Amino acid sequence: MGYGRLLLLLLASFFLRHEFAFSFSSLAPQSCPEDQSLALIEFNKTLVVNASLATLNCQFYEAQKAYPRTSSWVMSKDCCSWDGVICDEMTGHVIELNLSCSQLVGNIDTNSSLFQLTYLQRLDLSGNDFSNSQISPNFGRFTSLTHLDLSHSSFSGQIPSEISHLSKLQSLGLSGDFALFFDDELGLPPHDFKLILQNLTQLRELDLRYVNIFSSIPLNFSSHLTTLKLGGTGLNGIIPESIFHLPNLQVLNLEGNNALSGNFSKTKWNSSRSLVDLSLSAVNFSGDFLPYSLVYVTSLQFLVLYSCNLLGPIPKSLWNLTHLEYLDLRNNHLEGQLEDFRYSSALLHIDISNNQLKGYLPKSIQNLVNVAHIDLVHNQLQGPLPKSLQNLVNLTWLDLSSNNFNGSVDVSVFSNLKNLNYLSLSYNSISLTNENEVRSTLPQSLEYLFLSACEVRELDILRSATILYYLDLSNNKIQGRIPDWVLPNWTHSMSNLNLSYNMLTSIGPIPRIPLNTIDLRSNNLQGSLPNLLPTLQYLFISNNNLKGEIPLSFCNLTSLKVLDLARNNLKGAFPQCLSTMTYLEVLDVQHNSLSGDLLTTFIFGSGLKSFNLHGNMVEGKIPRSLANCMQLEALDLGNNYQNDTFPMWLGTLSNLQVLSLRSNKLHGAVRTSTSLKLFPQLWMLDLSCNAFTAELPTSLFRNLKAMRRIDQTMKVPVDRTQRYYQDSVTVVTKGLELKVVGILSLYTTMDLSSNKFEGHIPSMMGDLIALRVLNLSHNGLQGPIPPSLGKLSVVESLDLSSNKLSGEIPKQLASLTSLAVLNLSRNHLEGCIPKGPQFATFENNSYEGNDGLRGFPVSGGCGSHQIPETNNTTFVPDEESDLTFLSELSWKVVLMGYGCGLIIGFSISYFMLSSRKPNWLSRVAEDLEYRIIMRS
Ligand SMILES: *[C@@H]1O[C@H](CO)[C@@H](O)[C@H](O)[C@H]1NC(C)=O
Ligand SMILES: *[C@@H]1O[C@H](CO)[C@@H](O)[C@H](O)[C@H]1NC(C)=O
Ligand SMILES: *[C@@H]1O[C@H](CO)[C@@H](O)[C@H](O)[C@H]1NC(C)=O
Ligand SMILES: *[C@@H]1O[C@H](CO)[C@@H](O)[C@H](O)[C@H]1NC(C)=O
Ligand SMILES: *[C@@H]1O[C@H](CO)[C@@H](O)[C@H](O)[C@H]1NC(C)=O
Ligand SMILES: *[C@@H]1O[C@H](CO)[C@@H](O)[C@H](O)[C@H]1NC(C)=O
Repeated sequence: MGYGRLLLLLLASFFLRHEFAFSFSSLAPQSCPEDQSLALIEFNKTLVVNASLATLNCQFYEAQKAYPRTSSWVMSKDCCSWDGVICDEMTGHVIELNLSCSQLVGNIDTNSSLFQLTYLQRLDLSGNDFSNSQISPNFGRFTSLTHLDLSHSSFSGQIPSEISHLSKLQSLGLSGDFALFFDDELGLPPHDFKLILQNLTQLRELDLRYVNIFSSIPLNFSSHLTTLKLGGTGLNGIIPESIFHLPNLQVLNLEGNNALSGNFSKTKWNSSRSLVDLSLSAVNFSGDFLPYSLVYVTSLQFLVLYSCNLLGPIPKSLWNLTHLEYLDLRNNHLEGQLEDFRYSSALLHIDISNNQLKGYLPKSIQNLVNVAHIDLVHNQLQGPLPKSLQNLVNLTWLDLSSNNFNGSVDVSVFSNLKNLNYLSLSYNSISLTNENEVRSTLPQSLEYLFLSACEVRELDILRSATILYYLDLSNNKIQGRIPDWVLPNWTHSMSNLNLSYNMLTSIGPIPRIPLNTIDLRSNNLQGSLPNLLPTLQYLFISNNNLKGEIPLSFCNLTSLKVLDLARNNLKGAFPQCLSTMTYLEVLDVQHNSLSGDLLTTFIFGSGLKSFNLHGNMVEGKIPRSLANCMQLEALDLGNNYQNDTFPMWLGTLSNLQVLSLRSNKLHGAVRTSTSLKLFPQLWMLDLSCNAFTAELPTSLFRNLKAMRRIDQTMKVPVDRTQRYYQDSVTVVTKGLELKVVGILSLYTTMDLSSNKFEGHIPSMMGDLIALRVLNLSHNGLQGPIPPSLGKLSVVESLDLSSNKLSGEIPKQLASLTSLAVLNLSRNHLEGCIPKGPQFATFENNSYEGNDGLRGFPVSGGCGSHQIPETNNTTFVPDEESDLTFLSELSWKVVLMGYGCGLIIGFSISYFMLSSRKPNWLSRVAEDLEYRIIMRS
């Protein structure tokens, strides 16, 4: 098995592993019986050759090139001489028909003349496109067949039970296509599945991958079986142990059946030493260990057990499998150390990423002389990187990121790895040095380079790397200006450039590089925004010192999905064109000095999900056209000078979750319609520090559906394609992809403080039970505190201070066990302060400025007539209910600042999705970030 094959495997291990190699012997042609010749001609007429349609299915066959065999079929010649047709030497009957990968498109229906070729022993129609034809029951009439292959040919529907009548079959391939929709897939009723396994006693090879079977695996098999491929068939139940003991089994593929579970045989298994390929990925081996008995499976070349829920150490016997070439154990819970690799020199591919390996990377790694792929990302490996890595000259992929490696490693270790295409050392405690006399560079072959947080100080190491496609040098110590030679070197290759979190002061003019993503966040860039090409989709350049206006050239960046210009010193007006970019999902210009009226018209059909204008100097009205942004999830216009009334019309945005309008010049009564279902998803509302008047808006509270239910199970939607692993899809899009995902975390807050609200606190506020923060302070609210606030069972901060509230503190509040901050100061409250587990922790300042309050902690005198406030007098605080939101320290900060002097800001973060790995693991999600910002 050559390395070329392996590379393909690595790229798309699901698709490219087809091993039905029929041998079609070339015998002396015999004259073809007329009826069979006619049948072939008729059959040929029902099909057309179409390279573009049918070649797609052929790509599942690595070895074969698609070509139209039937084009050479000419009437004038004996049909036994036609390409793909073989006749019996004695009788002349057509006994073999091989039209695999022949670019054929058409239907094979029940009347097809194909079924007149009753002498066929071998029939191969794989890798064509039969346009969702059903597999006709007439295939069951080929009673002489020993080999039948209809794989990857776009057959659909139920596989007929007549197939189980082909009692001479030795090889059966019905592998379906990797379909995105269930309806296009082949199905096999569980009963017929059993018949095939039990009745076809001659069967040696069976491939039913991606056929929908959805049953358990029967107990009895033909003992002749050498190849059993049932990956992606929806099998369930337990793998019968007998499978592991089949005496002739070479290939066992059950991968992708995540309803299937198994245990490894602990005894001597596969004693005939036949097993070559074991692929059980995604089968649940929960709690099982990789058994020492692997030592008996000495023939093993492929061991693919990712996402199997395996526990425990990797048995030493694994490293004694001298034929093992391909090892994939990623996404398990394997522990222990990597043992010595002395006997593992056959290994070409090793992936044990996302486990819990500890210890050092052994020096004996130099014995992996052929290895092309090493992936150990997300483990707890430590110590220095062995210098012997430099001997692994066949390496194309090395990922050691997210471990605890430390010490320095010299660039020279990698400079002779002439095939290295992917290198990641990010997120360790490594420092990359370059201390040899001859200064080394990284190899020319690199396309993907990830050296985040590796103490990189200079870009000289990249002088040779001229085909870089994806570069991550974030979190390093690169200073000053980017040297002039750097960027021009990548004009034809670079797509994703990440130099964030360095100390760059200038990037110089960016040459015409068709970049997809630039991340320059948190440097010290001066000057104005750079000119960029319209291929750009993601621009992150926040937290710098950029000045000037947003240039008009940005209007040409029509592919932008994310524009993050936050925290710079940008001036001037907000450019109109930014609101007409159809693909833009995130627009973040917070904390700049943009000014003028917001005279923008957001277009209908805009994809905008998050718009943050916080902390600028924008005036005028809130643009009504924001109502066109139907995808909008977060809108922050806080800390500007907008002069308007409450934008009730935003309530029709059914995805809006976060709305902050704090600290503007908004005024008037907050009125919304009660009949329309407005703001259904809103879970953060900040209207503080404006000049809103009149009563608190009960009509608004009556809407706000999301604040009325406690939903801790907010989930990322599951993509249907995840049923099969997405890493195979990756190849198509080449490498790494950036996705913007919306707000993931729910932290329900309402801040209406520092306005001119009057009247009573409506008791309906108690229905907003999901609230964690409620601030109504600094208004003109009167009357009693409604006892219904006792229903806010998860509230952590309640601030009603600086109003004109009167009456007693309702004792229902004492049952709020999550309450960490209570501020009732500066009101006209009176009577006894209730007792309760949380109330015992509040100090004087929670109550000061209320002359009529008595009891702990204000005074001693609330007497014995006080009733215990909780039903359960032996209340034990729940350890689990610790503050999840902000640390206690932060809460103290909250207590100290008041009014508009302190805000809880928000920022939406983006996360990078490296789709190289299965989705659910590679996600590095930066959740919604809240920040306490003191305003000067
Ligand atoms: C078979 O079909 C091919 C392509 O459709 C055509 O070129 C060829 O002439 C046909 N041969 C016969 C014998 O019908
Ligand atoms: C099993 O195969 C035999 C032919 O060998 C056939 O006669 C019989 O009907 C099959 N059994 C079933 C249940 O299909
Ligand atoms: C591995 O093989 C070596 C050499 O054959 C042998 O000495 C050693 O005991 C084996 N280790 C295991 C764990 O089987
Ligand atoms: C490894 O590299 C050597 C030397 O470049 C080469 O001869 C050998 O074929 C390579 N091995 C594989 C498996 O590609
Ligand atoms: C890349 O930069 C190096 C160093 O200046 C230079 O020698 C080389 O010619 C450049 N390569 C390309 C393709 O521009
Ligand atoms: C936008 O692109 C057009 C066409 O390429 C070009 O003519 C124009 O000068 C560009 N505008 C700006 C402001 O760069």
